[in-house]
Amino acid sequence: SKINLKDYTKPSFDVETVHLDIKLFEDYAQVDSKLEMVRQTAGDIVLFGESLELLTITMNGKALNTEDYQQEAGKLTIYNAPERATLDIQVRICPQTNTALEGLYMAGSGDDTMFVTQCEPEGFRKITFYPDRPDVLAIFTTRLEADKRYPTLLANGNLVEAGEVADAPDRHYAIWHDPTNKPSYLFACVVADLDVLTDSYTTSEGREVLLELYAKSADIDKCDVGMQALKDAMKWDEVNYGRAYDLDRYMIVAVSQFNMGAMENKGLNIFNTACVLSSPETTTDARSFSVKAIIAHEYFHNWTGNRITCRDWFQLCLKEGFTVYRDQSFSADQQSSAVQRIDDVATLRAHQFSEDAGPLAHPVRPESFVEINNFYTTTVYEKGAEIVRMIANTLGPNDFRKGTDEYFRRYDGQAVTVEDFLSALSITDEKIENFIDWYRQPGTPVVSGSQTYDSTAQTLTITLNQQTRHVKGFDAPKPLPIPVATALFDKDSGAIVAERMLLLDEATQTFVFENVASEPVVSLLRDFSAPVQLNYDYQDADLAFLLKHETNGFNRWQVTQMLVNRILLQGQGTKSSPDVYLEALAQTLPVLAADDAMLAARLLDIPSAQELASAISKDYDPVLVKEQRDGLYKQVADKLKGQWAELYNNLPMQSYEDSAEARGIRALRNVVLDMALTANVDAAADWAQQQYDNASCMTERFGALKAMVNHQLVDADKYLADFYERFQANDLVIDLWFSVQAAADDVTPDMVKSLLTHTDFDWNTPNRVRSVISAFSSQPTVLWTAEGLEMYTGVIQKLDDANPVLASRLLQVLARWNTLAEPRRQMAHEQLVDLQKNVSSKHVLESLESVLGAA
Ligand code: ARG
Ligand code: ZN
Repeated sequence: SKINLKDYTKPSFDVETVHLDIKLFEDYAQVDSKLEMVRQTAGDIVLFGESLELLTITMNGKALNTEDYQQEAGKLTIYNAPERATLDIQVRICPQTNTALEGLYMAGSGDDTMFVTQCEPEGFRKITFYPDRPDVLAIFTTRLEADKRYPTLLANGNLVEAGEVADAPDRHYAIWHDPTNKPSYLFACVVADLDVLTDSYTTSEGREVLLELYAKSADIDKCDVGMQALKDAMKWDEVNYGRAYDLDRYMIVAVSQFNMGAMENKGLNIFNTACVLSSPETTTDARSFSVKAIIAHEYFHNWTGNRITCRDWFQLCLKEGFTVYRDQSFSADQQSSAVQRIDDVATLRAHQFSEDAGPLAHPVRPESFVEINNFYTTTVYEKGAEIVRMIANTLGPNDFRKGTDEYFRRYDGQAVTVEDFLSALSITDEKIENFIDWYRQPGTPVVSGSQTYDSTAQTLTITLNQQTRHVKGFDAPKPLPIPVATALFDKDSGAIVAERMLLLDEATQTFVFENVASEPVVSLLRDFSAPVQLNYDYQDADLAFLLKHETNGFNRWQVTQMLVNRILLQGQGTKSSPDVYLEALAQTLPVLAADDAMLAARLLDIPSAQELASAISKDYDPVLVKEQRDGLYKQVADKLKGQWAELYNNLPMQSYEDSAEARGIRALRNVVLDMALTANVDAAADWAQQQYDNASCMTERFGALKAMVNHQLVDADKYLADFYERFQANDLVIDLWFSVQAAADDVTPDMVKSLLTHTDFDWNTPNRVRSVISAFSSQPTVLWTAEGLEMYTGVIQKLDDANPVLASRLLQVLARWNTLAEPRRQMAHEQLVDLQKNVSSKHVLESLESVLGAA
């Protein structure tokens, strides 16, 4: 059943304190809870609970009679409660069979198991009956009891006491107390056998904080990068937002079975191993960089999410959009800010634009949902971050900081809404409140425009208009406030003659620039100042000009992307010739390679086949798109064929270093290697083998392996076998081994099927499932075939019951079936309708209904 934002009501009871006693046994757990509740408004006590066996329940010391309460699907309602109620509840749960990885679950298998929690958004109700909603904040005390073969007993807050269990020599316990008021989704506990890396940090307020990073003993040598990132993030938040950490202890735990990246539980973050472990030998640079970003993200949640939390789950973007903006800003300080912006915009365009263009489009703040887990989307996260960025840029650094200070001052300790956020940020400029429509309206705005130059008046007039598609089920779109960063370039000198932030907030507007001596080239949407599609009546020559003269790396990248899109995406006949683009690349690349290797690597980006597809709304032919994309890639490779050897040799392998410069060299070397193989440069196969054999780190080794596999070099299988052999003991590297094969250019559904039956394949480990299935879905020409889809939907069906969160996320990849050309479209439709008959989770059913609604 659907839940609506407009139906929000305050809880009738608040919880002051919670005492939890969680006892883990061989094949079940018993959870005893004591809740001190106080009435807020009229009404019954409503507790949520799922997959719980209720043993006893008493209120103010008296057992409840059957007529005092009612238990129905997922809910327990207590009638006629007094002003204050002490509830004592005992339940039994089974973490050992919890494959959904929500609530308290067992990870691992055999002798190697541990117990962890994931409570956001609604997992706490799988641990005990509770008013499991983010606007109920309480003080938690947690006692954990387990067999001593699990020496590590952790929960939120401070350790109060630990010891032996009387009359049970094999068992021990620990009691933790969290002094901060928090919603239940931030509860966490861990029962395991782990090693710990410790460190400390002294906050700007003089608090001495113990930092602990827990991992399996075999992984403890891969925790230094994460620990350093944590300290950097703590410092960064003090400097940039004036926010210091507020407890004496900060713990991070690595777990190999986890549905998402990581979770910001108060004082006890739980991380997917893939998002916290990092070492040069086992982790690529890209992965390692994202480890740092995710550590920072979860740390930043301590203020944006935990101390100020969401009133209800519709407000998810309140914490996620702001926190993503904060982690992106942090990352921009760790590498070149141009490359950071390129990566963030590329991700947004590849995933969020496609979501916004299809049947799963929803506002950054949704207005209704069946299953909130389906809304942890790139729209909520990444488009949410873009809105905060627009606000920050509109205000400028000083006023933005005044606004965030006001936000923290006003709402600390509360559960609030997006309106509250905007109201605090608008203290220096009330127009900021107008950004609310960005949160309400789905669809990516398209900004189009043109210019006229009047040489007598010496004026340049730019006309811009905006249009957003009308998404079914929502109000007709209105114009949004769109900041368009603009610069005018003098055609002769290449210098900037005027620079302005245009605010387009009507359907059509004209902007006049005075005293413009000659017709300039206009650069628009610089630094991607708004999450929109831009259609400006450029000539290819203008873009080539901008590629040469634009002043920052991001804008130059953006211009190359415009050129590529014009080549690949305009209707037949009006397509641009690639000549201008190829010529511009040939001129820019050699200079840039020596100057900023990372940026040079990015300039060679051609959007993936998937991303290109997201811009096609009808008669999408995956084979044709792949041919055209590969064709352009080959043209680039051939155009620069004479230069690859020199470029490659100028990027020599050196001993490993984790600096922006060294990462840039490694990134460019991998791109050049692939280009050289594409251009059939004779020596390139040898380079690949040497790079693999002499690799100083995973970026080099995996880059070489991937090139060998994708270009089907004769020795590729031998190297795949070597890679497996070398890294057999390391799950995260074996994930790479699976993914390089499942995403191979010549992959077939049969190859994927054989990976799914490999002895190392494990349906209960989401990382492993994704390493095959998500990797495979990056090949649209194989995915969108009868066999490919049958395999893919078969996986969804298999996971539907065991892990519906994961199943539903995998399904979302199929959202754009409706744009396919026949007969693929009909075929996909039939398979999705078939799938609908064979699944039962509300997660998958809700997504399927939206996806099929596109028909
Ligand atoms: N709040 C977490 C983060 O953004 C994500 C947790 C989402 N978990 C889930 N099961 N939907 O870092
Ligand atoms: Zn988050």
